[in-house]
Amino acid sequence: MANGELRCSGISAAQLAAEFKTPTFFLDEDDFRTRALNWNTELTNAFGPQAGRVYYAAKAFMCVEVARWIADLGIGIDVCTGGELAVALKGGIKGENIELHGNNKSVEEIEQAVAAGVGTIVMDSLFEIERVATAAKAAGKVQRVLLRLTPGIEAHTHESIATAHEDVKFGFSIASGAAWQAITETKKHSSLDLRGFHSHIGSQIFETEPFAIAAQRLIELLAKYKNEFKSQLPELDLGGGYGIAYLENESEIQAADVLSRLASEVKKMCAKYSLDVPKISIEPGRAIVGPSMFTLYTVGTTKVVTLENGSTRNYVSVDGGMSDNLRTSLYGAEYTAIIANRESAAKKIATRIVGKHCETGDIVIKDIDLPDDIRPGDLLATPATGAYGRSMATNYNHISRPPVVAIKDGKARVILRRESIEDLLRLDI
Ligand code: LLP
Repeated sequence: MANGELRCSGISAAQLAAEFKTPTFFLDEDDFRTRALNWNTELTNAFGPQAGRVYYAAKAFMCVEVARWIADLGIGIDVCTGGELAVALKGGIKGENIELHGNNKSVEEIEQAVAAGVGTIVMDSLFEIERVATAAKAAGKVQRVLLRLTPGIEAHTHESIATAHEDVKFGFSIASGAAWQAITETKKHSSLDLRGFHSHIGSQIFETEPFAIAAQRLIELLAKYKNEFKSQLPELDLGGGYGIAYLENESEIQAADVLSRLASEVKKMCAKYSLDVPKISIEPGRAIVGPSMFTLYTVGTTKVVTLENGSTRNYVSVDGGMSDNLRTSLYGAEYTAIIANRESAAKKIATRIVGKHCETGDIVIKDIDLPDDIRPGDLLATPATGAYGRSMATNYNHISRPPVVAIKDGKARVILRRESIEDLLRLDI
């Protein structure tokens, strides 16, 4: 901030809005790269030679330029559809650094992944074991695979983004014996090379314990496997889900803390069962891209309403909404916002920031205290919108999805352009 104006790498919010229009996502390239490298460094610090890969979870945000950054950083990427795979390949990420996820991959997606030589396919169902085995055999390859397991953990997060309890669509349950069946089925196929297990317990998690418990349960299964087959599986992938700060009073989970806690648990459990420490990989998405972006909106209208209890609320309408940030409507997610173009000493009043879509649930921020002099033309910035913002954006009400502008060394450039009316009409016959 300078004189009440938001500045990013020396460029003011007003300059950004003038050049790129609003709403627009602005991505701090150095912040993205630093975060990605930090997870990589901390994985190595925690696990030493047994550090596997950091696979950036593309679903959080992905475009060809970001794929190029990932290729340049030399880390891996987790893709979960043929579309994400295509973007990763277009950005120059080598097949061996790609991991394919998904609970219902199509045969085409599996075949594309095998053809691209992806390093790992994480298998999610018995059907898929057959499908991957068939695709690999037809391609004359032996495909490295992991089995996605549900370790039976109730992670403390929104129920739509918790993934490791029993009653979920993902993976093989350890407790029910499904995981063991998946192991024995996988081993029947000479075109599959079972490398180990995967678990992802959920997203936006702040505690380190659930990650440690998931690791324990996976290692117990590694021990059972070794007992039965007299050999050890060499890899575990412990997924993503590391929580970030959205509000001023929150703080993000620290890579060093959670990974050192994980490392001590993994080492302890491996010693207990006389196992070699497997290669440990992780898949952070939100923790890399979330804090690296903010959204800039322009205020279009305001109105003050009187509530039943006599208090008032200022409705501030911006030029985007649930099409560029679905998270508030979908998960009750909370964000903060600031006036980005000027200082205001005006009294703060109860405010709701809403979008321009035709429904009442189109809310960007449900409750926030903001100066009562907000007026049309003001710029509002919402921080930490990098993860699952642009990637879950829609064309609801035939709105154009916003662009993403990367900022580095005082220069801003479009890396994903704004959709045009022509783009919106392109699919109509
Ligand atoms: N690995 C797997 C297998 C995943 O399913 C996910 C996220 C990740 C890694 C990355 O999780 P992260 O580190 O980004 O938390 N749309 C929701 C989040 C859904 C997460 C889906 N899977 C949201 O906006 O909060």
